[in-house]
Amino acid sequence: MKKLMAANWKMYKTVEQAATTAKELATLLADNLSGDREVLIFPPFTAIAAVAGAFKDKAAFFVGGQNLHPADEGAFTGEIAPAMLLDLGCLWALAGHSERRHIFGETDEQVGAKMAFGLEKGLKMILCIGEKIEERRAGNVETVLARQLEQGLAGVDKAIAPERLSVAYEPVWAIGTGEIAGPDEIKHAHSFTRHKLNDFFGANADEIPILYGGSVKPDSAPAIMALDNVDGVLVGGASLKADSFSRIVVA
Ligand code: PGA
Repeated sequence: MKKLMAANWKMYKTVEQAATTAKELATLLADNLSGDREVLIFPPFTAIAAVAGAFKDKAAFFVGGQNLHPADEGAFTGEIAPAMLLDLGCLWALAGHSERRHIFGETDEQVGAKMAFGLEKGLKMILCIGEKIEERRAGNVETVLARQLEQGLAGVDKAIAPERLSVAYEPVWAIGTGEIAGPDEIKHAHSFTRHKLNDFFGANADEIPILYGGSVKPDSAPAIMALDNVDGVLVGGASLKADSFSRIVVA
């Protein structure tokens, strides 16, 4: 399985800034990106085309959408359809990022609808899951992850090709806080997720990349990447600068 090294640029960067960072990244990684790694950037919608353009002839560099609305088109002000993302050069999209769930109130059911619709329309999809700190303190990590996985994957075809799907475990308390989950916490959540995926998809699920996200930095990335069932990372803050993200990509 290829390792997926993903950057979530959230609501940062103008078109010009995004294109510059993407080009710098491609240059920095030109000679040292190993064949088992793929680089995936989630720019803001306005900069997707520019980043896709910067990666045009780069085999292992891909672009994705941070969100989608589960309809082909229609009166949905402020939303974006899978076909529009594909049109801009996106291969992937995110569903259920914790900021979507907790700032914008997205429910598990809505996340599940986005996953199923995005896949049906030809995107590859990353399902983001993760517990809040009070859920961890109450001993509910597995309950929360099980619910988010079950509802997030409820409408997904059981025979899906594993390379079309990924799960990102991002504990909410570790996102943008500088506080990183410990190795045992990551190993436990990832192995729980792998078992759940096996329950859904059978042995094929061994090939579904499970990413870790939450305050990943160049210094912490190598130890995280070395853990069992960690098949990549989803990076916010430390992905905004090409130098920092390129060091994570080769970690
Ligand atoms: P962070 O964000 O690396 O800044 O914690 C991760 C994410 O939100 O995907």
